[in-house]
Amino acid sequence: MPRIQVRLPARQTNYEIKIGAGLLSQLGREVRAVLGPNSLRAALISNPIVFEHYGKRALQSLKAGNFKTTHWLMSEGERHKSFRSWEQAIEFLTTSGLERGDAVVALGGGVVGDLAGFAAATYLRGLAFVQVPTTLLAQIDASVGGKTGVNLAAGKNLVGAFHQPRVVLIDTETLRTLPRRESTSGWCEAVKQGAVGSRKLFDQTRRFLGAGGRYFSPGNKREAQTKVFATDLDEVVAAHCRFKAAIVAGDEQEDISRADHRSRRILNFGHTIAHALEKATGYRRFRHGEAVGYGMLVAGEISKNVGMLAAGELESLREAVRLCGPLPPAHDLAIDGIIRAMKHDKKSVGGVMRWVLLERIGRARIVEGNQIDKRLLQSSLRAGLQALY
Ligand SMILES: NC(=O)c1ccc[n+]([C@@H]2O[C@H](COP(=O)([O-])OP(=O)(O)OC[C@H]3O[C@@H](n4cnc5c(N)ncnc54)[C@H](O)[C@@H]3O)[C@@H](O)[C@H]2O)c1
Ligand SMILES: [Zn+2]
Repeated sequence: MPRIQVRLPARQTNYEIKIGAGLLSQLGREVRAVLGPNSLRAALISNPIVFEHYGKRALQSLKAGNFKTTHWLMSEGERHKSFRSWEQAIEFLTTSGLERGDAVVALGGGVVGDLAGFAAATYLRGLAFVQVPTTLLAQIDASVGGKTGVNLAAGKNLVGAFHQPRVVLIDTETLRTLPRRESTSGWCEAVKQGAVGSRKLFDQTRRFLGAGGRYFSPGNKREAQTKVFATDLDEVVAAHCRFKAAIVAGDEQEDISRADHRSRRILNFGHTIAHALEKATGYRRFRHGEAVGYGMLVAGEISKNVGMLAAGELESLREAVRLCGPLPPAHDLAIDGIIRAMKHDKKSVGGVMRWVLLERIGRARIVEGNQIDKRLLQSSLRAGLQALY
Protein backbone atom coordinates (compact mmCIF):
# COMPACT_ATOMS: atom_id res chain seq x y z
CA MET A 1 0.00 0.00 0.00
CA PRO A 2 1.55 3.34 -1.02
CA ARG A 3 2.10 5.80 1.84
CA ILE A 4 3.28 9.34 1.57
CA GLN A 5 4.71 11.45 4.36
CA VAL A 6 3.71 15.08 4.20
CA ARG A 7 6.29 17.14 6.06
CA LEU A 8 5.54 20.68 7.07
CA PRO A 9 8.68 22.00 8.70
CA ALA A 10 7.17 25.41 9.51
CA ARG A 11 4.47 23.78 11.62
CA GLN A 12 6.66 20.98 12.87
CA THR A 13 3.98 18.52 11.82
CA ASN A 14 3.99 15.47 9.64
CA TYR A 15 1.12 13.36 8.53
CA GLU A 16 0.52 10.47 6.22
CA ILE A 17 -1.48 9.96 3.08
CA LYS A 18 -2.37 6.30 2.71
CA ILE A 19 -3.58 4.91 -0.58
CA GLY A 20 -5.18 1.59 -1.45
CA ALA A 21 -8.30 -0.20 -2.59
CA GLY A 22 -10.63 -0.98 0.30
CA LEU A 23 -8.98 1.34 2.85
CA LEU A 24 -12.35 2.70 3.91
CA SER A 25 -12.93 -0.34 6.08
CA GLN A 26 -9.83 0.61 8.10
CA LEU A 27 -10.94 4.17 8.74
CA GLY A 28 -11.69 3.64 12.44
CA ARG A 29 -8.37 2.01 13.14
CA GLU A 30 -6.43 4.69 11.27
CA VAL A 31 -8.20 7.56 13.00
CA ARG A 32 -7.66 5.89 16.38
CA ALA A 33 -3.97 5.48 15.56
CA VAL A 34 -3.46 9.20 14.96
CA LEU A 35 -5.74 10.49 17.72
CA GLY A 36 -4.72 8.17 20.52
CA PRO A 37 -6.84 6.36 23.12
CA ASN A 38 -8.49 9.41 24.74
CA SER A 39 -10.43 10.65 21.78
CA LEU A 40 -14.15 9.89 22.15
CA ARG A 41 -16.06 11.16 19.17
CA ALA A 42 -15.82 11.22 15.40
CA ALA A 43 -18.21 13.49 13.50
CA LEU A 44 -18.61 12.50 9.87
CA ILE A 45 -19.48 15.10 7.23
CA SER A 46 -20.52 13.91 3.78
CA ASN A 47 -23.23 14.53 1.19
CA PRO A 48 -26.25 12.40 0.21
CA ILE A 49 -24.69 10.90 -2.94
CA VAL A 50 -21.42 9.85 -1.35
CA PHE A 51 -23.06 8.77 1.89
CA GLU A 52 -25.44 6.52 -0.01
CA HIS A 53 -22.45 4.63 -1.44
CA TYR A 54 -19.95 4.70 1.41
CA GLY A 55 -21.53 6.17 4.54
CA LYS A 56 -22.48 2.95 6.22
CA ARG A 57 -19.04 1.43 5.80
CA ALA A 58 -17.35 4.56 7.10
CA LEU A 59 -19.54 4.75 10.21
CA GLN A 60 -19.20 1.05 10.94
CA SER A 61 -15.46 1.29 10.74
CA LEU A 62 -15.35 4.34 13.03
CA LYS A 63 -17.51 2.48 15.55
CA ALA A 64 -15.17 -0.49 15.34
CA GLY A 65 -12.40 1.98 16.19
CA ASN A 66 -14.31 2.72 19.40
CA PHE A 67 -15.60 6.13 18.42
CA LYS A 68 -19.01 7.51 19.22
CA THR A 69 -20.18 8.64 15.82
CA THR A 70 -22.56 11.25 14.49
CA HIS A 71 -23.03 12.32 10.90
CA TRP A 72 -24.36 15.22 8.91
CA LEU A 73 -24.93 15.48 5.17
CA MET A 74 -24.38 18.84 3.54
CA SER A 75 -26.38 19.58 0.40
CA GLU A 76 -24.89 18.42 -2.87
CA GLY A 77 -23.03 20.88 -5.09
CA GLU A 78 -20.49 23.68 -5.23
CA ARG A 79 -23.02 26.38 -4.37
CA HIS A 80 -23.45 24.79 -0.97
CA LYS A 81 -19.80 25.34 -0.14
CA SER A 82 -21.11 28.42 1.62
CA PHE A 83 -21.32 30.28 4.93
CA ARG A 84 -24.79 28.85 5.40
CA SER A 85 -23.47 25.27 5.19
CA TRP A 86 -20.52 26.19 7.40
CA GLU A 87 -22.97 27.43 10.02
CA GLN A 88 -24.97 24.21 9.76
CA ALA A 89 -21.77 22.20 10.08
CA ILE A 90 -20.81 24.12 13.23
CA GLU A 91 -24.29 23.51 14.69
CA PHE A 92 -23.82 19.84 13.92
CA LEU A 93 -20.45 19.76 15.69
CA THR A 94 -21.98 21.52 18.70
CA THR A 95 -24.92 19.15 18.99
CA SER A 96 -22.56 16.21 18.50
CA GLY A 97 -20.81 17.38 21.68
CA LEU A 98 -17.38 17.47 20.07
CA GLU A 99 -14.50 18.38 22.36
CA ARG A 100 -10.92 19.34 21.72
CA GLY A 101 -9.60 15.78 21.48
CA ASP A 102 -12.24 14.64 18.96
CA ALA A 103 -12.21 14.47 15.18
CA VAL A 104 -14.07 15.72 12.14
CA VAL A 105 -14.01 13.26 9.23
CA ALA A 106 -14.75 14.42 5.68
CA LEU A 107 -16.09 11.75 3.33
CA GLY A 108 -16.58 13.09 -0.20
CA GLY A 109 -15.16 15.20 -2.99
CA GLY A 110 -13.45 18.57 -2.77
CA VAL A 111 -16.64 20.39 -1.83
CA VAL A 112 -17.20 18.26 1.26
CA GLY A 113 -13.48 18.31 2.10
CA ASP A 114 -13.16 22.10 1.87
CA LEU A 115 -16.29 22.75 3.90
CA ALA A 116 -15.69 20.12 6.58
CA GLY A 117 -12.06 21.21 6.80
CA PHE A 118 -13.09 24.82 7.36
CA ALA A 119 -15.55 23.77 10.06
CA ALA A 120 -12.79 21.70 11.70
CA ALA A 121 -10.37 24.63 11.42
CA THR A 122 -12.71 27.08 13.09
CA TYR A 123 -14.73 25.13 15.68
CA LEU A 124 -13.03 25.44 19.09
CA ARG A 125 -10.20 27.13 17.13
CA GLY A 126 -9.26 23.90 15.47
CA LEU A 127 -10.18 20.24 15.78
CA ALA A 128 -8.40 17.21 14.42
CA PHE A 129 -9.41 16.67 10.82
CA VAL A 130 -9.35 13.51 8.71
CA GLN A 131 -9.87 13.42 4.96
CA VAL A 132 -11.39 10.52 3.05
CA PRO A 133 -11.51 11.95 -0.49
CA THR A 134 -13.77 10.11 -2.93
CA THR A 135 -13.27 11.95 -6.23
CA LEU A 136 -10.10 11.72 -8.27
CA LEU A 137 -9.71 15.49 -8.06
CA ALA A 138 -9.97 15.42 -4.28
CA GLN A 139 -7.59 12.45 -4.02
CA ILE A 140 -4.75 13.93 -6.06
CA ASP A 141 -5.29 17.60 -5.37
CA ALA A 142 -7.87 19.01 -2.95
CA SER A 143 -7.15 16.72 -0.01
CA VAL A 144 -3.40 17.40 -0.11
CA GLY A 145 -2.17 20.72 1.14
CA GLY A 146 -4.48 21.87 3.90
CA LYS A 147 -6.47 24.56 2.10
CA THR A 148 -10.03 24.71 3.42
CA GLY A 149 -12.77 27.25 2.89
CA VAL A 150 -16.05 28.43 1.46
CA ASN A 151 -17.22 30.50 -1.50
CA LEU A 152 -18.70 33.99 -1.37
CA ALA A 153 -21.04 35.63 -3.86
CA ALA A 154 -17.98 37.67 -4.91
CA GLY A 155 -15.97 34.58 -5.85
CA LYS A 156 -14.85 31.06 -5.08
CA ASN A 157 -12.75 30.15 -2.04
CA LEU A 158 -12.54 33.73 -0.80
CA VAL A 159 -12.81 32.80 2.89
CA GLY A 160 -10.83 29.99 4.39
CA ALA A 161 -7.97 28.73 6.47
CA PHE A 162 -4.99 26.48 6.21
CA HIS A 163 -5.78 23.45 8.34
CA GLN A 164 -3.77 20.31 7.76
CA PRO A 165 -5.44 16.92 8.21
CA ARG A 166 -4.05 14.41 10.71
CA VAL A 167 -4.27 11.66 8.13
CA VAL A 168 -5.63 11.29 4.57
CA LEU A 169 -7.09 7.94 3.58
CA ILE A 170 -7.52 7.39 -0.14
CA ASP A 171 -9.62 4.38 -1.02
CA THR A 172 -9.21 4.15 -4.79
CA GLU A 173 -12.13 1.70 -4.98
CA THR A 174 -14.45 4.65 -4.43
CA LEU A 175 -13.57 5.92 -7.90
CA ARG A 176 -15.58 3.10 -9.39
CA THR A 177 -18.83 4.96 -8.74
CA LEU A 178 -17.57 8.32 -9.95
CA PRO A 179 -19.58 9.79 -12.85
CA ARG A 180 -17.70 10.00 -16.14
CA ARG A 181 -17.41 13.77 -16.24
CA GLU A 182 -16.02 13.88 -12.72
CA SER A 183 -13.45 11.34 -13.77
CA THR A 184 -12.46 13.39 -16.86
CA SER A 185 -12.25 16.46 -14.69
CA GLY A 186 -9.90 14.75 -12.22
CA TRP A 187 -7.69 13.39 -14.98
CA CYS A 188 -7.31 16.88 -16.45
CA GLU A 189 -5.94 18.06 -13.10
CA ALA A 190 -3.63 15.04 -13.12
CA VAL A 191 -2.31 16.02 -16.54
CA LYS A 192 -1.79 19.52 -15.17
CA GLN A 193 0.27 18.21 -12.27
CA GLY A 194 2.36 16.16 -14.67
CA ALA A 195 2.82 19.09 -17.04
CA VAL A 196 4.26 21.36 -14.36
CA GLY A 197 5.74 18.63 -12.17
CA SER A 198 7.99 16.34 -14.14
CA ARG A 199 8.23 14.52 -17.42
CA LYS A 200 8.12 11.28 -15.46
CA LEU A 201 4.83 12.09 -13.75
CA PHE A 202 3.39 13.32 -17.03
CA ASP A 203 4.42 10.18 -18.91
CA GLN A 204 3.18 7.87 -16.15
CA THR A 205 -0.20 9.60 -16.25
CA ARG A 206 -0.36 9.54 -20.04
CA ARG A 207 0.58 5.85 -20.16
CA PHE A 208 -2.14 4.99 -17.66
CA LEU A 209 -4.72 6.98 -19.61
CA GLY A 210 -3.53 5.54 -22.89
CA ALA A 211 -4.06 2.03 -21.52
CA GLY A 212 -7.68 2.92 -20.79
CA GLY A 213 -7.24 3.95 -17.16
CA ARG A 214 -9.93 6.57 -17.32
CA TYR A 215 -12.45 3.83 -17.85
CA PHE A 216 -11.93 2.80 -14.26
CA SER A 217 -15.60 3.37 -13.51
CA PRO A 218 -18.72 1.28 -13.27
CA GLY A 219 -20.53 -0.47 -16.05
CA ASN A 220 -17.74 -0.08 -18.55
CA LYS A 221 -16.74 -2.72 -21.04
CA ARG A 222 -13.24 -2.93 -19.71
CA GLU A 223 -14.27 -3.95 -16.23
CA ALA A 224 -12.51 -7.27 -16.74
CA GLN A 225 -9.19 -5.47 -16.83
CA THR A 226 -9.66 -3.53 -13.64
CA LYS A 227 -7.39 -5.84 -11.67
CA VAL A 228 -4.47 -4.57 -13.68
CA PHE A 229 -5.71 -1.05 -13.40
CA ALA A 230 -6.30 -1.21 -9.67
CA THR A 231 -2.60 -1.48 -8.81
CA ASP A 232 -1.58 0.95 -11.54
CA LEU A 233 -4.23 3.37 -10.37
CA ASP A 234 -2.91 3.28 -6.80
CA GLU A 235 0.56 4.04 -8.14
CA VAL A 236 -0.59 6.93 -10.31
CA VAL A 237 -2.64 8.46 -7.51
CA ALA A 238 0.32 8.03 -5.14
CA ALA A 239 2.72 9.69 -7.59
CA HIS A 240 0.41 12.69 -7.82
CA CYS A 241 0.00 12.97 -4.05
CA ARG A 242 3.78 12.74 -3.66
CA PHE A 243 4.24 15.57 -6.14
CA LYS A 244 1.61 17.80 -4.57
CA ALA A 245 2.91 17.06 -1.07
CA ALA A 246 6.44 18.04 -2.13
CA ILE A 247 5.24 21.34 -3.56
CA VAL A 248 3.17 22.07 -0.46
CA ALA A 249 6.05 21.18 1.86
CA GLY A 250 8.23 23.72 0.06
CA ASP A 251 5.64 26.51 -0.04
CA GLU A 252 2.82 25.71 2.36
CA GLN A 253 0.97 29.01 2.17
CA GLU A 254 1.58 29.99 -1.45
CA ASP A 255 4.06 32.79 -0.81
CA ILE A 256 3.09 35.58 -3.25
CA SER A 257 6.64 36.83 -3.52
CA ARG A 258 7.73 33.56 -5.11
CA ALA A 259 7.74 33.03 -8.84
CA ASP A 260 10.11 30.09 -9.20
CA HIS A 261 9.36 26.80 -10.90
CA ARG A 262 8.74 25.00 -7.59
CA SER A 263 6.42 27.55 -5.95
CA ARG A 264 2.88 26.46 -5.09
CA ARG A 265 1.68 28.87 -7.76
CA ILE A 266 2.70 26.56 -10.59
CA LEU A 267 -0.32 24.44 -9.66
CA ASN A 268 -2.40 27.22 -11.21
CA PHE A 269 -1.26 26.19 -14.67
CA GLY A 270 -4.30 26.40 -16.95
CA HIS A 271 -6.37 28.04 -14.23
CA THR A 272 -6.42 31.67 -15.39
CA ILE A 273 -8.26 30.62 -18.53
CA ALA A 274 -10.21 27.88 -16.73
CA HIS A 275 -11.69 30.35 -14.25
CA ALA A 276 -12.56 32.72 -17.09
CA LEU A 277 -14.26 29.91 -19.04
CA GLU A 278 -16.25 28.86 -15.98
CA LYS A 279 -17.28 32.45 -15.29
CA ALA A 280 -18.12 33.29 -18.91
CA THR A 281 -20.46 30.28 -19.07
CA GLY A 282 -22.15 30.98 -15.73
CA TYR A 283 -20.50 27.91 -14.11
CA ARG A 284 -22.92 25.73 -16.05
CA ARG A 285 -21.10 24.34 -19.03
CA PHE A 286 -17.85 22.97 -17.61
CA ARG A 287 -16.84 20.95 -14.64
CA HIS A 288 -13.83 22.73 -13.19
CA GLY A 289 -11.29 20.17 -14.40
CA GLU A 290 -12.79 20.20 -17.90
CA ALA A 291 -12.19 23.96 -18.02
CA VAL A 292 -8.63 23.29 -16.81
CA GLY A 293 -8.23 20.95 -19.79
CA TYR A 294 -8.83 23.85 -22.17
CA GLY A 295 -6.99 26.27 -19.91
CA MET A 296 -3.82 24.20 -20.22
CA LEU A 297 -4.10 24.10 -23.98
CA VAL A 298 -4.49 27.86 -24.19
CA ALA A 299 -1.56 28.39 -21.80
CA GLY A 300 0.37 25.90 -23.95
CA GLU A 301 -0.44 27.90 -27.09
CA ILE A 302 0.72 31.10 -25.39
CA SER A 303 3.92 29.34 -24.31
CA LYS A 304 4.53 28.23 -27.88
CA ASN A 305 3.65 31.61 -29.37
CA VAL A 306 6.11 33.47 -27.14
CA GLY A 307 8.79 31.03 -28.26
CA MET A 308 9.09 29.19 -24.95
CA LEU A 309 7.60 25.78 -25.75
CA ALA A 310 8.37 23.49 -28.68
CA ALA A 311 5.45 22.53 -30.95
CA GLY A 312 6.01 18.81 -30.24
CA GLU A 313 5.65 19.41 -26.49
CA LEU A 314 2.35 21.20 -27.04
CA GLU A 315 1.21 18.24 -29.13
CA SER A 316 2.00 15.86 -26.22
CA LEU A 317 -0.06 18.06 -23.94
CA ARG A 318 -2.94 18.06 -26.40
CA GLU A 319 -2.76 14.28 -26.67
CA ALA A 320 -2.81 13.89 -22.89
CA VAL A 321 -5.84 16.16 -22.50
CA ARG A 322 -7.61 14.21 -25.24
CA LEU A 323 -7.02 10.98 -23.31
CA CYS A 324 -8.79 12.40 -20.25
CA GLY A 325 -12.14 12.08 -22.01
CA PRO A 326 -14.47 14.25 -24.07
CA LEU A 327 -14.74 17.91 -23.09
CA PRO A 328 -17.79 20.11 -23.69
CA PRO A 329 -17.30 22.37 -26.72
CA ALA A 330 -15.55 25.71 -26.23
CA HIS A 331 -14.90 26.87 -29.80
CA ASP A 332 -18.22 28.72 -29.93
CA LEU A 333 -17.41 31.04 -27.01
CA ALA A 334 -16.71 34.72 -27.71
CA ILE A 335 -12.99 35.35 -27.25
CA ASP A 336 -13.48 38.89 -25.95
CA GLY A 337 -16.02 37.66 -23.41
CA ILE A 338 -13.40 35.27 -22.04
CA ILE A 339 -10.79 38.01 -21.88
CA ARG A 340 -13.23 40.23 -20.00
CA ALA A 341 -13.93 37.40 -17.57
CA MET A 342 -10.19 37.17 -16.86
CA LYS A 343 -10.14 40.57 -15.16
CA HIS A 344 -10.31 40.24 -11.34
CA ASP A 345 -8.44 36.96 -11.41
CA LYS A 346 -7.54 35.97 -7.85
CA LYS A 347 -4.10 35.05 -9.09
CA SER A 348 -3.10 38.62 -9.81
CA VAL A 349 -0.57 40.37 -7.59
CA GLY A 350 -0.72 44.18 -7.30
CA GLY A 351 -3.30 44.16 -10.08
CA VAL A 352 -0.88 42.47 -12.49
CA MET A 353 -1.87 39.08 -13.83
CA ARG A 354 0.54 36.24 -13.51
CA TRP A 355 0.59 33.48 -16.09
CA VAL A 356 1.91 30.02 -15.48
CA LEU A 357 3.50 28.97 -18.77
CA LEU A 358 5.54 25.96 -19.82
CA GLU A 359 9.15 25.82 -20.91
CA ARG A 360 8.76 22.13 -21.54
CA ILE A 361 6.64 19.30 -20.21
CA GLY A 362 7.61 19.09 -16.56
CA ARG A 363 8.89 22.63 -16.16
CA ALA A 364 6.74 25.71 -15.58
CA ARG A 365 7.65 29.39 -15.67
CA ILE A 366 5.69 32.23 -14.07
CA VAL A 367 5.37 35.30 -16.27
CA GLU A 368 3.82 38.73 -15.62
CA GLY A 369 0.60 39.32 -17.56
CA ASN A 370 1.70 42.55 -19.17
CA GLN A 371 4.35 40.63 -21.09
CA ILE A 372 1.61 38.85 -23.06
CA ASP A 373 0.02 41.11 -25.64
CA LYS A 374 -3.66 41.02 -26.40
CA ARG A 375 -3.34 39.85 -29.98
CA LEU A 376 -1.20 36.90 -28.99
CA LEU A 377 -3.69 36.05 -26.26
CA GLN A 378 -6.59 36.17 -28.73
CA SER A 379 -4.94 33.88 -31.23
CA SER A 380 -3.85 31.49 -28.48
CA LEU A 381 -7.41 31.33 -27.21
CA ARG A 382 -8.72 30.62 -30.68
CA ALA A 383 -6.25 27.78 -31.19
CA GLY A 384 -6.54 26.32 -27.68
CA LEU A 385 -10.33 26.21 -27.63
CA GLN A 386 -10.68 24.21 -30.83
CA ALA A 387 -12.41 20.83 -30.57
CA LEU A 388 -9.96 18.09 -29.65
CA TYR A 389 -11.55 15.33 -31.67
N1 LIG B 1 -8.47 22.58 -1.00
C1 LIG B 1 -7.82 22.55 -2.14
O1 LIG B 1 -6.58 22.62 -2.18
C2 LIG B 1 -8.59 22.37 -3.39
C3 LIG B 1 -7.94 22.05 -4.58
C4 LIG B 1 -8.70 21.83 -5.72
C5 LIG B 1 -10.07 21.96 -5.66
N2 LIG B 1 -10.67 22.29 -4.49
C6 LIG B 1 -12.13 22.41 -4.41
O2 LIG B 1 -12.69 21.15 -4.67
C7 LIG B 1 -14.01 21.34 -5.16
C8 LIG B 1 -14.24 20.40 -6.32
O3 LIG B 1 -14.08 19.09 -5.87
P1 LIG B 1 -14.63 17.83 -6.70
O4 LIG B 1 -14.22 17.97 -8.10
O5 LIG B 1 -14.23 16.65 -5.92
O6 LIG B 1 -16.20 18.07 -6.72
P2 LIG B 1 -17.40 17.62 -5.77
O7 LIG B 1 -16.96 17.53 -4.36
O8 LIG B 1 -18.54 18.50 -6.08
O9 LIG B 1 -17.72 16.15 -6.29
C9 LIG B 1 -18.16 15.99 -7.60
C10 LIG B 1 -19.44 15.14 -7.66
O10 LIG B 1 -19.12 13.77 -7.45
C11 LIG B 1 -19.93 13.23 -6.42
N3 LIG B 1 -19.12 12.17 -5.82
C12 LIG B 1 -18.06 12.33 -5.01
N4 LIG B 1 -17.47 11.16 -4.80
C13 LIG B 1 -18.17 10.23 -5.47
C14 LIG B 1 -18.05 8.83 -5.66
N5 LIG B 1 -17.03 8.17 -5.14
N6 LIG B 1 -18.99 8.20 -6.40
C15 LIG B 1 -20.00 8.88 -6.97
N7 LIG B 1 -20.15 10.20 -6.86
C16 LIG B 1 -19.25 10.87 -6.13
C17 LIG B 1 -20.28 14.41 -5.57
O11 LIG B 1 -21.44 14.19 -4.81
C18 LIG B 1 -20.46 15.49 -6.63
O12 LIG B 1 -21.73 15.35 -7.23
C19 LIG B 1 -14.14 22.80 -5.51
O13 LIG B 1 -14.94 23.44 -4.54
C20 LIG B 1 -12.72 23.31 -5.44
O14 LIG B 1 -12.66 24.67 -5.06
C21 LIG B 1 -9.96 22.48 -3.37
ZN1 LIG C 1 -8.16 23.19 -10.32
